[in-house]
Amino acid sequence: MKKQSLYIAMVGLPARGKSTIATKLKENLMHDSVKTRIYNNGNLRRKIVRTDTSDARFFDPTNREGVAIREKIALLNIKRAQKFLNDGGQVAILDATNVSHERRENILSLLNDHPILFIECINDDEEILEASILRKIDMAEFGHLTREAAIQGFKERISYYHSIQKPLSGERNFIKLDSLNNKIIQEEIAPDIPYHDQIRDFLVTDTVKHLFLIRHGETHFNLEDRIGGDSELTENGWAQARALAHYFKKKQIPLIFTSEKKRTIQTAEPIRDQQEDCTIIPLEEFNEIDSGFCECMTYEEIRRDKPEVYYARKKDKYNYIYQEGEGYISMQDRINRGIKKALYLSDPMDNIMIVGHRAANRMILSHFLFRRTEDVPYIYIPQDKFYYISSTQNKKLFQLKSYHP
Ligand code: F6P
Repeated sequence: MKKQSLYIAMVGLPARGKSTIATKLKENLMHDSVKTRIYNNGNLRRKIVRTDTSDARFFDPTNREGVAIREKIALLNIKRAQKFLNDGGQVAILDATNVSHERRENILSLLNDHPILFIECINDDEEILEASILRKIDMAEFGHLTREAAIQGFKERISYYHSIQKPLSGERNFIKLDSLNNKIIQEEIAPDIPYHDQIRDFLVTDTVKHLFLIRHGETHFNLEDRIGGDSELTENGWAQARALAHYFKKKQIPLIFTSEKKRTIQTAEPIRDQQEDCTIIPLEEFNEIDSGFCECMTYEEIRRDKPEVYYARKKDKYNYIYQEGEGYISMQDRINRGIKKALYLSDPMDNIMIVGHRAANRMILSHFLFRRTEDVPYIYIPQDKFYYISSTQNKKLFQLKSYHP
């Protein structure tokens, strides 16, 4: 059978997750033996342009020189993509903003030898955009600027793109994707578009290549069997954190997501300190279940002083909601949001680490591994082992591993 070829053109403002989606598509297509390559305009610009392109004015649509350079880069990548398909490649992904109507017209007129599918990434979640911008300004391109100047510059860059943005509508083949939630908002795909079932499926699936899901080390509250609170690690807990740090020393962990609680951040710190370049990102979404009016009590105190809580929870642990607090069932939305946030901020090819809590980790684990809800509150989450999770279209792997030598 003749191999079919396809151009995919990403569309979207900066920091909308286009490169993450492009990488994910490439990974999955390659796994299905579809020869795929990404042509990223930003990377090419950083490679070949000598002037300082961290300055937002470079992206001003009225700056003729900047426009000419960017158009030249776009053209170079369009030509390279075309050559790739003509040399036997199957999917060429143009990873650039492509937000203006003129740019897309240009792509359509130059690439008329194979079908084109436009994929627009949409995400207007302010908090996630802020976090994503913080990740972007880590790039060497902004190295000479203060943090504030880099953030400001990146936001100005976004507003320049915003001023020329025209959402997809008249194009023959397009998908509008909520890139935070992996949800298709709108799609128009002609039946002759090759690989479209695969592509659609990849777009809507949360995938993690390498996720290390760790529970914080032992705390003073753990020794007393007390729940909740914001207790610190014990000597043994610190030793566990150091053992984890030693275990992960040879793996590259660019980001560690924790909760906002001291015990998870303290567990992550020695791990970060053994890495060359690693940032801890505390997310409130990964906080432990809020046990409301039972916070800081021991299980024995609850059984003695609040038997109604103890027995109601025993009867239906997943659906029980602590008064003034949470239950497993009501944690689900925030935990899902935390996972989306962590995946959005990470490169899909990188190792991802989450240091969480017993109940929080149960919910994270069950996001990737189907468990009946009534079994979720009993998933085994020890402190001397961690879960390694690899969950893609093609592979589902869950391993409980010891980090001790
Ligand atoms: O004991 C540690 C802990 O993380 C508590 O803070 C939390 O309330 C509890 O585990 C959750 O586990 P379970 O739902 O089994 O009570």
